[in-house]
Amino acid sequence: PPRPAMIPIRGVPMIKHFAENWGEVERFQAQPDDLLISTYPKSGTTWISEIIDMIYNDGDIEKCKQDPIYMRVPFLEFAVPDIPTGVELLQKRSSQRLVKTHLPVQLLPPSFWEKDCKMIYMARNPKDVAVSYYYFYQMAKVHPDPGPWDKFLDDFMAGEVTFGSWYQHVRGWWDKRKEQRMLYLFYEDMKEDPRREIRKVLEFLGRPLSEELVEAIARHTTFAEMQQNFMANYRTIPTNVMDHSISPFMRKGVTGDWKTQFTVAQNERFDANYERQMEGTDLCFRLEI
Ligand code: A3P
Repeated sequence: PPRPAMIPIRGVPMIKHFAENWGEVERFQAQPDDLLISTYPKSGTTWISEIIDMIYNDGDIEKCKQDPIYMRVPFLEFAVPDIPTGVELLQKRSSQRLVKTHLPVQLLPPSFWEKDCKMIYMARNPKDVAVSYYYFYQMAKVHPDPGPWDKFLDDFMAGEVTFGSWYQHVRGWWDKRKEQRMLYLFYEDMKEDPRREIRKVLEFLGRPLSEELVEAIARHTTFAEMQQNFMANYRTIPTNVMDHSISPFMRKGVTGDWKTQFTVAQNERFDANYERQMEGTDLCFRLEI
């Protein structure tokens, strides 16, 4: 079947089915005890979601293995025909909801600001995001055909990919972090020292857990563990939606993989463009650790 084209929402390219359901998302009613987990796609969303769900379950692995991650942490703007939308899943929960979103800050339903919800944003360096996104576009068939890598990289730099510009996304959320109850995390930091980052999350959430449980959470959420865990690795999704034989969802889980994909020329083009698009911000990324 042909790949669906993107449909813009207020100028931001969106997955077609998501755009068609936009009204429901815009009207979404957040609750004060919702926790929003916000990321640009491919920045470690599933990883931080599994960590937070473990925290919410006081480190009880069995509870976190009862449902796939996309049921435990519903994806706000998710909509495909014939299955419950993200909003429908969320409306079935009464309290302490975990909400995943990839929306750029300006598209977040206003209710999250009005209810002053806590938010955790996770960012990842753009070179690894672009590579990860390229393989994800191929395996997750709600996306248009990404075409060759060189073209996809240009689309990424131009913000002509689903959820729009990475540059505007990370900057938009960064600029909001001080006026909001928001913790801004980095994939590279989590990779470098997951226990340190888990403790940061615990403090932000005001949920003290023992060092023993921090250790249990860190062990349960390594790449190797999550790759094997069917409740975290998206292997329960039908193959007409995600085809892991094209590229697995749990692909590599490392920093600096961009070096295996970028040519020298592409890297120079990317760096020059990065300078322009990130001008004037104090937001910094590490391209490897
Ligand atoms: P790669 O394609 O570079 O391997 P998201 O969940 O936002 O879609 O991000 C997916 C990316 O995070 C993939 O990156 C995936 O392998 C990586 N990832 C998922 N779980 C991880 C973990 N526990 N540790 C490190 N990386 C992880």
